[in-house]
Amino acid sequence: MSALPAISAPPIRSTQQQRTHWSRHFDQPKVLEPTRLSIEGRLPPGLQGTLLRNGPGVFDLPGGTRTNIFDGDGVVVRAQFSHGQAIGQVRPVDGPDMKTERKAGRARFSAFERPADRWVDRLGARIKNAANTSVMRWNGRLFAMCEGGPPTELDPNTLETLGETNLNGVIPGAFSAHPARVASRHTTYNFGIRYGIVSQLDVFAFPDGGDARRLISVPLDAPRAMHDFIATDHHLVFFTLPLKIDLARMVLGIGAIHHNLHWTPSLGVEVIVVPIDRPSECARFSIDPFMVWHFANAFEMGGTKLAIDYVRFPDASGLDFVRTGRQGMVSAAVQPGLLHRATVDWKRKTFETQPLCEASVEFPQVAPSNAGNTTGPIYMVSHSSETVARNGFFDTIMRVDPNDGSEQAITLGDRQWVTEALFAANPQATHPDEGWLLSTVYDETQHQSYVAVLDAQRLDRGPLAKVWYPQAVHWTFHGIWTPQ
Ligand SMILES: [Fe+2]
Repeated sequence: MSALPAISAPPIRSTQQQRTHWSRHFDQPKVLEPTRLSIEGRLPPGLQGTLLRNGPGVFDLPGGTRTNIFDGDGVVVRAQFSHGQAIGQVRPVDGPDMKTERKAGRARFSAFERPADRWVDRLGARIKNAANTSVMRWNGRLFAMCEGGPPTELDPNTLETLGETNLNGVIPGAFSAHPARVASRHTTYNFGIRYGIVSQLDVFAFPDGGDARRLISVPLDAPRAMHDFIATDHHLVFFTLPLKIDLARMVLGIGAIHHNLHWTPSLGVEVIVVPIDRPSECARFSIDPFMVWHFANAFEMGGTKLAIDYVRFPDASGLDFVRTGRQGMVSAAVQPGLLHRATVDWKRKTFETQPLCEASVEFPQVAPSNAGNTTGPIYMVSHSSETVARNGFFDTIMRVDPNDGSEQAITLGDRQWVTEALFAANPQATHPDEGWLLSTVYDETQHQSYVAVLDAQRLDRGPLAKVWYPQAVHWTFHGIWTPQ
């Protein structure tokens, strides 16, 4: 078979574009062996544990540079905090698909936007596992995840890649990068979507100290995409999106996912509520279309009602950002997301939603002790101004408390680009909201990155400490904080 030219992508829906400089945030990071990080300020003595994040960091790959943010190979970034010191490490994930491409010397697999170099490799809808989106710990094991493939296991001590795993056959296909923990059940849940003649939503349970199992497989009405889900103490809630995949074209190898993923408002959103104790009795109903990448929290309201906090978008125009953001280009068509609270009555099949604040936000987080069972502050990234918002990247961390409607926001300075703020609980806390926020920040002015440590209750105190890597690290989607 001869190599074919890459299929050209559809035009971006915008009339104006702005070039920005934070695109260096997507430069490939240098590998960093475990190294003591320099600390500006003072680390709280109670902050003991490990921050581990994952994001697309390697774009110069066999067959040529990938342009779409989703198409970079995963690189994990670690900061281990202990007794007022921190050790940093940066290590690429080296999964089987990455090794295969290196050996072949070409794009051996289709990715999100870049089809495989050769036609024969495009057939069958096989997607590269870039292991670039997040990480999960379970029973002492560590996994890098990307929703297009199975988990990739890493050595939790060295971060060396051990290989892909289907966990003894439990995971028949893909595995989302967004697990949800239900502390009261000592169990982590996750899902994957298997596309086929009838596409299936596979739901998995990972009990502490027990064996992984598939809870249920729910047939979907269409081959739809979904990025995240949310759990309460008793229910798992899925909003299947009006993003339809043209499976026939995928199987025939015509284009990659981006060319075959279509915003289809007529599909609406299908709400699927799976009772954890009776998964076969799931409730499902359709509502008007919208887009959600990430959920914040959910809790039982009594009776058959659930509260679901999520970031709501009018459409999937955020996909334009991932196409061009690495080049510093932002489409004016990209729509902002708003934090919403939905009230879902799974028995009456009703859905009501309203915004909790007016700011443009993403990457919501809550204190783990509040997750799934109660409402509490929600921590998100946002923009300090309209100009920054138009330029597309996040420079502000927000705290919104739905209990009292209060809002706090902090911008860390000129061209300090923040990532998702993870909550690290204070082990001495007398209140669940006492703790610190950890955001890995790219200081564009110095082309260097640091972990900002903030008081989760008082953002106005500014960073209590900045923990500097000796280099710039790439932009990371998601991560986890593991207390010591
Ligand atoms: Fe995500």
